[in-house]
Amino acid sequence: PSIHLLPLICFRVTGGVVVLRKWIAGGVCTCLVRLDGKTVLITGANTGIGKETSRELAQRGARVVMACRDLTRAERAAEEIRQTTGNGNVVIRHLDLASVYSVRQFAKDFLETEDRLDVLINNAGVMMCPKWLTEDGFETQLAVNHLGHFLLTNLLLPKLKSSTPSRVVNVSSIAHRGGRIDFDDLFFGRRLYSPLDSYRQSKLANVLFSRELARRLKGPCKQRSQTYSQVTTNTDLRSCLTCPTGVGVSSFCLHPGVIRTELGRHVQGWFPLLGMLLSIPSLLLMKTPHQGCQTSVYCAVTPGLEARSGRYFR
Ligand SMILES: NC(=O)c1ccc[n+]([C@@H]2O[C@H](COP(=O)([O-])OP(=O)(O)OC[C@H]3O[C@@H](n4cnc5c(N)ncnc54)[C@H](OP(=O)(O)O)[C@@H]3O)[C@@H](O)[C@H]2O)c1
Ligand SMILES: *[C@@H]1O[C@H](CO)[C@@H](O)[C@H](O)[C@H]1NC(C)=O
Repeated sequence: PSIHLLPLICFRVTGGVVVLRKWIAGGVCTCLVRLDGKTVLITGANTGIGKETSRELAQRGARVVMACRDLTRAERAAEEIRQTTGNGNVVIRHLDLASVYSVRQFAKDFLETEDRLDVLINNAGVMMCPKWLTEDGFETQLAVNHLGHFLLTNLLLPKLKSSTPSRVVNVSSIAHRGGRIDFDDLFFGRRLYSPLDSYRQSKLANVLFSRELARRLKGPCKQRSQTYSQVTTNTDLRSCLTCPTGVGVSSFCLHPGVIRTELGRHVQGWFPLLGMLLSIPSLLLMKTPHQGCQTSVYCAVTPGLEARSGRYFR
């Protein structure tokens, strides 16, 4: 090819990159709904997708409660959000999802001191950490990504119920696809621990739980209210079979895309090296946290989504 084709080639490549970037950025929540007077609670809100979700919802006028385990980092993020949105009604609260005690303590304080809860976003997550056991003896990924949020949601249900129409948004992951749940060895006591298998198992747990819940609740309404009344008297992990739609609390599950956040911080072995090799293309191929929070925001604010309660969005 002759030299004067070069500008044309450059032009095409640049154009291609721009189109690719735009495609990778994914959908954007274009709905302009305001959230004045509403309270939203976001777990793992000090960084990544959670922080950007907090910012977007603060921008819409909500009272934003950021539930984080590190209050120093949380306050830094909250202050930045107050500054950039001009919304002073952004507060932090301590929550460590790896501790059943902390979840119960958090829920107790929240129920006692907050007037309402319109949107709960179960966003916090840990990916591919080494085999760590929590103080309760649970493997950390299943503990944080599923069990902690499961308990939290059920403990906060009275507040969600008294604030209807309210929503629960679960940030899951496409990683659930490769997942397999070993019900006889949930915490890798017997099988060899694999950080990736554990992450997949924890994300599959979110999705399976809502599928099974939907299946059990397909019965007549009578059955629904029965299931629900059990919950109000017993908040034990096993009996938390709640009926979100039946009580005006709708719930969604989502995959946010592939986003440049701190999620890979615990990844060991070959993966980080691979990550480094791929880091230049990944700058191009991954979403920014702001692009990554769009599905969470969409599920939190889009009017009329109640009819799709229980669905998985991506
Ligand atoms: N990034 C992606 O490509 C991607 C893809 C699919 C799904 N997701 C999901 O998106 C969610 C948000 O992840 P991200 O990408 O924004 O990752 P991130 O930047 O690592 O943020 C995760 C957040 O969770 C918090 N967290 C971790 N363990 C916690 C615990 N025990 N108690 C309370 N908070 C805890 C972290 O707090 P600290 O800062 O204190 O650790 C942090 O605020 C996760 O559920 C993740 O699985 C992400
Ligand atoms: C979201 O997670 C909570 C807690 O585990 C659960 O009660 C709810 O059914 C989940 N919703 C969906 C749609 O996955």
